[in-house]
This record gives sequence, C-alpha cells and structure tokens, in this order.
Amino acid sequence: MTKTILITGASTGIGKALAYQYAGLGYHCICVSRRIEACQSVASNCKELGAASSHAIKCDVSLADDTMALKKELDRLNLVIDIVVLNAGISGSGSSHQLSTLSYRKIYETNVFGVLNCLESLIPKLITQGFGHIVLIGSLSSYRGLPQTGAYGSSKAALHYIAETLRLDLKPYGLDVSIIHPGFIKTPLTDKNTFKMPFLMSAEKAAAIIQKAIHRKKAIYAFPFIMACAAKLQVILPSFIRDLLLRNVKNTKEL
Ligand SMILES: NC(=O)c1ccc[n+]([C@@H]2O[C@H](COP(=O)([O-])OP(=O)(O)OC[C@H]3O[C@@H](n4cnc5c(N)ncnc54)[C@H](OP(=O)(O)O)[C@@H]3O)[C@@H](O)[C@H]2O)c1
Repeated sequence: MTKTILITGASTGIGKALAYQYAGLGYHCICVSRRIEACQSVASNCKELGAASSHAIKCDVSLADDTMALKKELDRLNLVIDIVVLNAGISGSGSSHQLSTLSYRKIYETNVFGVLNCLESLIPKLITQGFGHIVLIGSLSSYRGLPQTGAYGSSKAALHYIAETLRLDLKPYGLDVSIIHPGFIKTPLTDKNTFKMPFLMSAEKAAAIIQKAIHRKKAIYAFPFIMACAAKLQVILPSFIRDLLLRNVKNTKEL
C-alpha cells in the first residue's frame, strides 16, 4: 500500500528536500508550513517527482488552533499517516550577558511548543491507526551548551528529552519515535550565518541521510559522522577542558 508522509516546515530547506526525497519514492506527501504559496509550489513539484499525491496545508505550528485545524484537514483527506516529520523550526542567537526571555520564548514557541501542538493533535490519530513513525528534528547543538546558543540549543535539547519519553510511552501503542540531530546544512536558516560552518552539507544530501535513518527506525541519529563524534565527545569531556577549548568561540549566529 502506498505510504503517506507529513512534513512540517516543508516550504524550504531540509523539509522541502525531504518532501522531494519521499516524492521520488512514490509517497503521498503532505507539506505543511505558514507560507502556503511556497508550500503549494513544493507540493506541485512533489507530484512531478512521482508522489502518489501531494497536499499543501497552511499551518503555524506555534498556534494550537492551527494544529487542530491541521488534524481536521487530515481527517478530511482520509489518509492514514505513516511518517510525521516535525521539522518546522527557527533559529536565533545572543549572548547570555543580555539574556532576553522574549528571545527564548519566541524560539520555544515554534521549536518546542510547535512540536508539542502537532503531537497533541496527531498522537490520538496515530494511536487509533495503531501504527506510525514520529520523527523530530533536533540539532547537534543540543548535546551540550554552546556559546550564544542558549535559546536555540536548549529548545533542541528539550526535543531530545521529549523524543526519548515519547519513544518509551508510545511503543505499547505501536508507534515508533526518532530524533535526528543534523550538523550544518545549507538552507535559508544557515545562509544567515557569518561564521565558518564545518562540514556544511547540501539539504538534498541531508534529506537522503535522514530518509535512510527513518527507514532504519533509528531512535537517535546524528550526522555528519565527524561532527556527531565531536558532539558526543563533548559530553564526556570534563567541563574545565571544554570551557578552555570554547573560550574564544563567538557564535554570532545560530547553529
Ligand atoms: N540548517 C541546519 O544547519 C540545521 C541544523 C540542525 C537542525 N536544523 C533544524 O532543521 C529544521 C529545518 O531547518 P532548515 O535549516 O531547513 O530551516 P529553513 O530553511 O529556515 O526552514 C524552516 C521551515 O520551518 C517552517 N516554519 C518556521 N516556523 C514555522 C511555524 N511557526 N509554523 C510552521 N512552519 C514554520 C518554515 O516555513 P514557513 O516560513 O513557510 O512557515 C520553513 O519551511 C529546523 O528545525 C532546524 O532547527 C537545521
């Protein structure tokens, strides 16, 4: 039976590349984002690339009313959802010496509560189906605090914890949960960055890697390999050594 994937944040970057990747595999592709024209254009390209069908749905994930409307639209389409990729996210950076709760709140509204709004709307449908794979998009920056990345990095660290909990809680209901931690991927999000981004990868290559990780139902998957090793090494490094290594790092823009 032809499978269905829903991707939030499908109008650009990783989400768009992922939609094209699954379109090529013949999936029904449901593209979700705020900018409906951009989403419609991605959906129509999906059809040309081989999608069984494609749909564009306007939804601001930070608004619970929108994600409830998204659920209703899915019911109307009457498609079972095999894979849900909660990819919509924003970035931002700033030093903690001028900490602003507003900037934290803004990032959390999309990156954390946006994901939770989608989960609240979609988990009951997936449980009723008795199957489904929920995929969260985290970041390598979530492994340990980095300079000037407090709001973004901690929002992704929250997703990591949420994904671990979901995986344990939802397994008895037949649902799988994964979290993917990408390194630097070339997208409109990183195009704003002015610093050097090691191992910068195209969105198309990232999408192919993510698709493989989803196919293998990896619980946690971090890439590219060397950046993932560095991120994991940091976790076991004593803080005084890590602080020394990072003392001159200025992350003027976001990872
Ligand atoms: N690029 C990287 O290096 C990198 C690394 C690690 C993790 N990530 C993560 O990967 C995900 C995708 O990032 P990207 O690099 O592809 O960024 P991007 O090109 O800026 O794409 C972000 C997507 O999210 C959507 N979006 C943002 N706010 C939304 C909202 N409130 N409601 C619905 N959709 C919203 C945007 O669409 P609309 O504007 O149309 O709503 C857009 O489609 C993010 O979660 C990001 O944190 C990226």
